[in-house]
Amino acid sequence: MLTVNSCAAVDCRWPPLCCLWPGRGDRMVTLNFGQKIFFSVLSVAGLSVLLISLPLLFNSASHFMQIASDHARTDSVMLGEMVQPALVFEREDMAQGLLEILQQSPDVLAATIFSVDPADGSESLFAHYGDQTLLSDIQLNRTDRTQVERVGSYLIAVSPVRSSGATVGYVRLVVSQSNIETHFQETLIYVTVAVIVALFIAGYLAVASRRAILKPIQDLGQVTQLVAQTQDYGTRAKSDSEDEVGDLVVSFNAMLDTIEEFDRQRMQKEREILQLNQNLERIVDERTVELQNSMAVLRKTVEDLRETQGKLVEQEKMASLGSLVAGVAHEINTPIGVGITAASHLTQSLGELQQRFLDGSLTKRQFADSVAEMTETVQMISKNLERSAALVKSFKMVAVDQSSDDMRVFNVKEYIENVLMSLKPKLKRTRHEVIVNVAEDLTIFSSPGALSQIVTNLIMNSLLHGFDETEQGRIELKMQQTGDELVFDYMDNGKGIPAAIRDRIFDPFVTTARHKGGSGLGTHILYNLVTRVLGGTVTLEPERQPGVHFRLRFPVRSDVGPMDIPIAGAR
Ligand SMILES: Nc1ncnc2c1ncn2[C@@H]1O[C@H](COP(=O)(O)OP(=O)(O)OP(=O)(O)O)[C@@H](O)[C@H]1O
Ligand SMILES: [Mg+2]
Repeated sequence: MLTVNSCAAVDCRWPPLCCLWPGRGDRMVTLNFGQKIFFSVLSVAGLSVLLISLPLLFNSASHFMQIASDHARTDSVMLGEMVQPALVFEREDMAQGLLEILQQSPDVLAATIFSVDPADGSESLFAHYGDQTLLSDIQLNRTDRTQVERVGSYLIAVSPVRSSGATVGYVRLVVSQSNIETHFQETLIYVTVAVIVALFIAGYLAVASRRAILKPIQDLGQVTQLVAQTQDYGTRAKSDSEDEVGDLVVSFNAMLDTIEEFDRQRMQKEREILQLNQNLERIVDERTVELQNSMAVLRKTVEDLRETQGKLVEQEKMASLGSLVAGVAHEINTPIGVGITAASHLTQSLGELQQRFLDGSLTKRQFADSVAEMTETVQMISKNLERSAALVKSFKMVAVDQSSDDMRVFNVKEYIENVLMSLKPKLKRTRHEVIVNVAEDLTIFSSPGALSQIVTNLIMNSLLHGFDETEQGRIELKMQQTGDELVFDYMDNGKGIPAAIRDRIFDPFVTTARHKGGSGLGTHILYNLVTRVLGGTVTLEPERQPGVHFRLRFPVRSDVGPMDIPIAGAR
């Protein structure tokens, strides 16, 4: 288990300081940098002064003690030497006189000389000096050597007095320590004053060093704030010092140089971008105007093209009507010609019959033969006229329908047959075969005109393009109704639509037969008729190759009652 030191357990940002100074160490960390410098220098200086002065004080105290003790020892020894004759000759007055000299030593408070009886070794007071009460409590320790002891605030020095190797007495001195104390106190005062002065000097140095260190940093901070506020990267920090802070200022100024250069380049780029934008806007405006002009021209061109296309479509329609009329003329020509020939033959027969009747040479048999022949001729005329009338009727229906997109109900198969009849002039000199695969009773509500144009276009394309190199082609028209929709499959087995134009087959003016007078509008008209008039779709099926397969789908209504059905050709 992790054990946490008690001083580090508190929320302390600098654990060593908290351990050193519990409770307050952490607060030190919250001091600002200047205060930290100040207190650090002061503490180091104070600690150093204390570390130096305390041992010094201690040393001087022991030194003074030693000196005092040595003095007391020397004094007692010297006094012993001096009083030896007085003791030997038992001259108390002499001893007393010698003791009086001690008045010159204010430290010596009292002195006593004891004489020792050589017989029994007992001691007795011989002479004394000073305050004897001081000595009353102090026992004499008889000793062979000089001894100094500290008793209370006094130093007691006891020294034996010898004569001829025998101890004849003792000298005892009581020396005051006040001198030592005075010396010590003086030293203490000196040391204290020195400590205080040292602390003052340290404090001054701390303030000075704090200022020396902090001033450039504060200046740098102010410049930084100024730069941040004004964004003026031309501002520079000043520093006269050549230390680390000076290096920092130099680096900071170098950084400002770089930023200023970047800023200058940025502004230059911004100006260029602004200029470019303005140019771009101007160019865009000019281009917009040009584009608008072009659009107007384009719109006009498109309108012209549409108009031209409409005219071309109309021309195409007219051309198809023209060929229809040519076909009609050609088709009717035969029965009418036959009729005219028969009519002139009838006229001739009638003239001969009339001549014979006037001559009276007309026999009954001749009359009967002539009438029978004329009846036959009249029947022939009548038949040919009827055929002509039928032709005209069907051509008329197809022609009228082709020129309009009106909707009506019609029988599909019958109508397709009529369309094919109108195309007979184109088909009859060929060996191509057209198969109409449509139910007899398929009746729809749709636009027969559109259907007629579609079928005509498809068959004409098969004849002109699909079978241009084929003698015996096959065309199939298959129509069947699925719900409300008629599916019309148109197929031929010709050479097929060239791959290059398959994708654009319904676009206008796409043709491979321009040299033969093709305009490329046939399939485009077909597409428009299916999608716009019939409301359906037309696709070129890909699977039939060679040959073509167009699939048309368009909505039809077959649920129209007989009353609704307009009579075909009634228009
Ligand atoms: N049944 C087909 N077989 C082969 N190619 C065809 C067939 N139908 C159309 N094409 C090709 O498609 C082209 C476009 O036909 P489209 O009917 O649109 O124009 P066109 O017949 O060339 O001219 P026109 O405007 O006189 O009809 C034709 O030129 C032809 O190359
Ligand atoms: Mg065509």
